[in-house]
Amino acid sequence: MASPAKIGIVTVSDRASAGIYADEGGPAIVDYMTKALVSPWEAVSRIIPDEREGIARTLIELADAEGCCLIVTTGGTGPAPRDVTPEATEDVIDKPMPGFGELMRQVSLAKVPTAILSRQLAGIRGRTLIVNLPGRPRAIAECLDAVMPAIPYCIDLIEGPYLETDPAVVAAFRPGQKPKG
Ligand code: MTE
Repeated sequence: MASPAKIGIVTVSDRASAGIYADEGGPAIVDYMTKALVSPWEAVSRIIPDEREGIARTLIELADAEGCCLIVTTGGTGPAPRDVTPEATEDVIDKPMPGFGELMRQVSLAKVPTAILSRQLAGIRGRTLIVNLPGRPRAIAECLDAVMPAIPYCIDLIEGPYLETDPAVVAAFRPGQKPKG
């Protein structure tokens, strides 16, 4: 049997990493993936402060050493001085995937006018797709619901593992394939 697909889950927060408050974003991403994915996967989780070099190092470690096919970050996408997750992501990707940020901001705007404050982006590093999400726990499902249908096919295209979703939760779209469910 194929080994489980590794998914990196990175909470970027000075306060959560210092233990000042509990990380809610990381567990919300784990919950989402647990419901959405029916193929075997395992989480590789990190909670780190808002430091550009440290974030970049963590993304490189999860992509290159751990071999994650997908890394989802949460937090540090806003305009505050310590918000540097998009810059760190830009530092490590070979290819930007601007459609992800565009779509996530668009759907988020229907929920909250401050969605335009998120500079969240996505990109490819080797065989890893990296996607930034805002830090608010409720933003996680709001954003993943929008982009998750395209993620399994994106990972096919970068020669990663075959991710299967539960169509009752989120239907993965693969061109040329009949929708399941
Ligand atoms: N997107 C969604 N879907 N839901 C939200 O509640 N919050 C916004 C925005 N995007 C939000 C959202 C707010 S208030 C901010 S400041 C920015 O994301 C940046 O958040 P971050 O710095 O925690 O990443």
